[in-house]
Amino acid sequence: MKSVRTTNPPTAEPPEDLGHAALAASGILPGLDALATVLLVLDKLTLRVVYANPPAEALLALSRRSLAHMTWHDLFLNGEVIDATVKELLANQYQATRLDLVLERTAQEPLHTHAIVGIPENAPDFVIVELIENEQKLKNEREERILDQAWINKQLIRNLAHEIKNPLGGIRGAAQLLEFELVQRELREYTQVIIKESDRLQTLVDRLLEPHRHPYIVTEINLHEVCERVRSLVLAEFPQGLEIERDYDVSLPELRGDKEQLIQALLNIVRNAAEAMREQIERGQGRIVLRTRVARKVTLAKRLHKLALELHVIDNGPGIPEEIRDRIFFPLVSGREGGSGLGLTLAQSFVQRHEGSIECESRPGRTDFRIMLPLG
Ligand SMILES: Nc1ncnc2c1ncn2[C@@H]1O[C@H](COP(=O)(O)OP(=O)(O)O)[C@@H](O)[C@H]1O
Ligand SMILES: [Mg+2]
Repeated sequence: MKSVRTTNPPTAEPPEDLGHAALAASGILPGLDALATVLLVLDKLTLRVVYANPPAEALLALSRRSLAHMTWHDLFLNGEVIDATVKELLANQYQATRLDLVLERTAQEPLHTHAIVGIPENAPDFVIVELIENEQKLKNEREERILDQAWINKQLIRNLAHEIKNPLGGIRGAAQLLEFELVQRELREYTQVIIKESDRLQTLVDRLLEPHRHPYIVTEINLHEVCERVRSLVLAEFPQGLEIERDYDVSLPELRGDKEQLIQALLNIVRNAAEAMREQIERGQGRIVLRTRVARKVTLAKRLHKLALELHVIDNGPGIPEEIRDRIFFPLVSGREGGSGLGLTLAQSFVQRHEGSIECESRPGRTDFRIMLPLG
């Protein structure tokens, strides 16, 4: 099978030729280097790559040096689409043309892009191809929305919790004083209700304020140690009928972060999975997979990261109830009896403090929580 990554550029060319003197002389390169979109410059005659900017290197997972001299056929299975566009452009002497392209790749998802193909004014012997990833754009927008929403929620809850907390102390105190004064003992039943309910609310409010209380202590962390801790904690709680499989990428680099917070975040997610699988566990068929991987070129919290850690918690339980599926990260949303609905809120809060993200895909039989944590 033809593989993109193993295609070597011809080695006969001396390396200093890669920059293409004429292109360098045009003075457009520094500008292209600084742009955040994916840009490739092709030689007008051969249609081979002469230059690729850093986002292009990242997208194609190839260095500029490896990319030099490649054709679109080396890069994509349907390379002819770009060749045809460029030829048409040249034949009709347009300055630029735009089109939506689906670029097929070997052993990878196809790239859905919007392409702008043009001839630079001060370097007419070259063709510039700009690729804008459609999916990435949509995904970034969605993540930004989630982040903004989480932030607003957090502020709202925090303010509300503070507003409740203060008068609550007063209510409880007054009920206690009243109780001392009560001559008829049976009336104490009522003051006791006030006191107990105040205490219950107090606990709730404290838990709502919990994420804002934790100090953030940064050390070098091995994510697998976090996984192992959580694994043994949950297995201690569910000693029978539950299997927690490890699917670790042993080459995973360390990350900087707060170990206790990450343990708590992961514990909340894995515990949820186990709690949702009570039936499977009773039948001895509960199964959770902890999977770690390195991810490249991901945008998290509005920033592009070259490397990130990816951690999946996958269970074979009943799936998240459909009616709460869109809201599980919101505070107080719970699908189970006696649930506080705060576990995932806290988990999200801690992961976001690491500039990471949590997403979830769920259907009956398979629920997959994906945590992404950027590396530097
Ligand atoms: N792996 C899972 N499988 C099925 N449902 C889940 C899973 N994880 C979370 N949920 C659902 O999301 C809800 C919210 O979880 P969480 O925020 O931890 O609150 P709580 O566990 O207190 O209910 C849970 O009540 C449950 O209905
Ligand atoms: Mg929970």
